[in-house]
Amino acid sequence: MKSNNPGICKDGNDINALEALVDPARVKSDVYTDKAIFDLEMERIWNRAWLYVGHESQVKSAGDYITTTLGVTPVIMIRDRNAADVHVLLNRCGHRGAKVCEARNGTAKNGNLKCPYHGWVFRSDGSLRSYPSPAGYNDVDFDKSDPDFGMPQVPRVEKYRGFVFASLAEDGPDLQSFLGQTIDTIDNMVDRAPEGEVEVTGKVCHRFRHPCNWKFFIENLHDAMHPMIAHAGTSDAVRRYVESLPNQEGVLPEAEVIAPFGGSYDFFDDMGFVGLPNGHAFMGGRKSIFSHYQVYPDYLEKMHQSYGEKRTEEILSFNRHNTLLYPSCTVRDNIQSIRIVIPVSVNETIIESWTFRLKGAPDDMLKRTLRYSRLINSPASMVGPDDLDCYVRIQKSAESGAIEWIDMHRHHGRDAQQGNQTTAVGTSDLALRNQYVAWLEYMTNGRADS
Ligand code: FES
Repeated sequence: MKSNNPGICKDGNDINALEALVDPARVKSDVYTDKAIFDLEMERIWNRAWLYVGHESQVKSAGDYITTTLGVTPVIMIRDRNAADVHVLLNRCGHRGAKVCEARNGTAKNGNLKCPYHGWVFRSDGSLRSYPSPAGYNDVDFDKSDPDFGMPQVPRVEKYRGFVFASLAEDGPDLQSFLGQTIDTIDNMVDRAPEGEVEVTGKVCHRFRHPCNWKFFIENLHDAMHPMIAHAGTSDAVRRYVESLPNQEGVLPEAEVIAPFGGSYDFFDDMGFVGLPNGHAFMGGRKSIFSHYQVYPDYLEKMHQSYGEKRTEEILSFNRHNTLLYPSCTVRDNIQSIRIVIPVSVNETIIESWTFRLKGAPDDMLKRTLRYSRLINSPASMVGPDDLDCYVRIQKSAESGAIEWIDMHRHHGRDAQQGNQTTAVGTSDLALRNQYVAWLEYMTNGRADS
């Protein structure tokens, strides 16, 4: 049993207390249960990193908006009234702080947003436009142009090929420096479109409430020791179904999606893991669970028309499995899917799964993307709930005090360093350790020893 030590990080300036949470190959279970640690994570990780907001195609026309949350901060992404630019604003009124927009998406009339409490109206750039009975503010110490009375713009917003990111910090690296080599995954997703652009499919996503800490989802992303166990019920059934077919012909397309989750330890080892600075990472490159997906002839033809055979081969052989843009989102370029992490509290997290259409690609490609999302990522899928069940089991153990340290020893000490990449076989716990190197750097403001 762990010692009863609630509030281990009461003092965020106590570097020793923070360092004591992370050993080279294990981490204290308090990081999943301690509210003070969660609050410090929001301040030092989520309020500083570049976070994924959404895609420009979600706000195509003037006044279109979506609402979301950066860490625990509600924001609104809105296309301005002349449709030229996209702004990301704090979703709070400059009067008494009420949340201005509750809807998940919509179109602001004339590009203006109106607070439902006292009717203050804001332009799409967040500036205060008007308020009822203005004489009440005449000759008082009130400057309508003061940004505090508006809906403040998030300090930094950058776009990359239609993907919008924001940082709540005034200073820090630019977006591309922050993303490093993970940007190749975004490039590959977009390059897979014959027209060189992607767009979000529809206005809604799969939203999946997780009654556990936010870190479990991204830690599971590259945990290649679990699929063949946690998902065995589904993948074994698919394998038996395929084997039962005469000559294994006429296989339903669902089997193509589910079967790789029953891959062997060797299969996942061969995929390889690459850890990057800032907690980012990816698996695969040469091979992935998507390696054996069929290439539809009409899609290949369109790609050849757009890119030529050599470049098409380069694009389609880029075979990353999952890419983690720590801490806020995960990308699967092969299947055009992005999942967003929205922490709610120390033991509650929302995971959103968004799918993208490859512009210029035949409908079969979109159907496969949607099939994948339905079968793997949705709350009613055949895979995702297996993972959630396991996260909750750990969360409950940690909350009960039954476990003090969470293990990360697998292949510890066998990592290889290549420039700024740390590499290992696919089943290595480097996938976890790499996140906690970044976690400790963020949490100690770069003052940790390791
Ligand atoms: Fe928004 Fe008063 S709180 S107008």
